[in-house]
Amino acid sequence: MELKKVGIVDFCRSPIGKAKGGALAGVTSIEIGAQVLRALLERNPKLPRDRVELVVAGTAYPEGEQGLNVSRQIAFKAGLPVSVAGVTVNQFCASSQQSVMMIADALACGKGDIGIALGLEHMARVPQGGYNPYFDPELYEKNFYIPMGDTAEVLARENQISRDDQEAFAVASHRKALAAWAEGAFAREVVAIETPQGLAEKDEFPREPDLPKMKSLKPAFDLKSGTVTAATSSPISCGVAAVVLATEEAARELGLGLRATIESTAVAGTDYERMGLGPLPATEKALRRAGLSLQQMDVIELNEAFAAQALAVIRLGGWTDVAERINPLGGAIALGHPLGMSGARIIGTAITGLERTKGTYALATMCVGGGQGASTILKRAGA
Ligand SMILES: CC(C)(COP(=O)(O)OP(=O)(O)OC[C@H]1O[C@@H](n2cnc3c(N)ncnc32)[C@H](O)[C@@H]1OP(=O)(O)O)[C@@H](O)C(=O)NCCC(=O)NCCS
Repeated sequence: MELKKVGIVDFCRSPIGKAKGGALAGVTSIEIGAQVLRALLERNPKLPRDRVELVVAGTAYPEGEQGLNVSRQIAFKAGLPVSVAGVTVNQFCASSQQSVMMIADALACGKGDIGIALGLEHMARVPQGGYNPYFDPELYEKNFYIPMGDTAEVLARENQISRDDQEAFAVASHRKALAAWAEGAFAREVVAIETPQGLAEKDEFPREPDLPKMKSLKPAFDLKSGTVTAATSSPISCGVAAVVLATEEAARELGLGLRATIESTAVAGTDYERMGLGPLPATEKALRRAGLSLQQMDVIELNEAFAAQALAVIRLGGWTDVAERINPLGGAIALGHPLGMSGARIIGTAITGLERTKGTYALATMCVGGGQGASTILKRAGA
């Protein structure tokens, strides 16, 4: 069977909000999702709604308002016809990168022309860990459920990543995010969300760096001798992202236009106590599959779960020579990391970055709790 080429027609997202006390704190993931998807459909009038094969939503904690096959609920609420199927997937932080991968695979195999990936998380309304976690005693003994912050401490300790280095990385992330907002870089990707208190229009976390305040913070996870703080961790956030995918064939037939094509994807497992290194094996596979090198990537979106984690990937992976191309519009430390949203968000932001720089290739990669990585390689349409 010959595989079809698949690409991304369009992408948009909500602003990323403070899950506790922010403008979106009182709005459900279903409602934010419906508004984001409706905006995406409205700005793509040529997209025939009845040709959408399926909507795959990714969320790290598919419970409460993120449960009950939330994909189907959002699709229906946004106005897609009942004929469109809905699937919800879970791969923790890579959940919606997996949504994109599943749709890309299905369309490449001829199972439909168009699909929509959603990524969503409201980390206060559905807490990290879920409402009713169960720990297998044998796995528990092996530290399999190690908290995410502790994995960042492991990487910081083993690789001598100092608190100063982590803070410098976080400052750079905030500066880039603030500059991106000031320059209007997110104008096409962020859609305003209506809330009972008014419109939520902007990412809420980017802030002017305040080094004395950062230095005054206590360690967030290893209270005695840790180096990871609230300022060097991705914050507790909320938001939804949506990506429309189509085969090149269908896009041409319908006059949709593609913004980027998917060159390859990969997931990989790694040591769960060093889960932050997941981007390394996943990226190695994705690059091999695409026949490309890291040096050919013009934009790299490396999800910043923690500064220590992103720095460990850069140093151990020998990514220092491409460091300038990493997260040019800021990363998750400054923008936020609503877990299930981030996979789709970094794919979309990678396209924003490619279009701004007129680059050719982009890599979107992230680490995943439990010890995994996920990577997607994109090529800008027309490049
Ligand atoms: C680290 C963590 C525990 C902090 O939670 P928190 O204490 O509720 O965080 P807050 O936002 O209240 O920040 C704590 C303090 O740090 C300050 N702070 C945060 N970022 C800052 C920055 N960039 N500069 C200066 N101060 C900052 C806050 O202003 C706050 O100070 P205040 O108490 O004087 O108001 C939480 O963000 C977390 O768990 N993050 C990781 C989430 C995760 O695991 N994701 C998955 C990754 S795989």
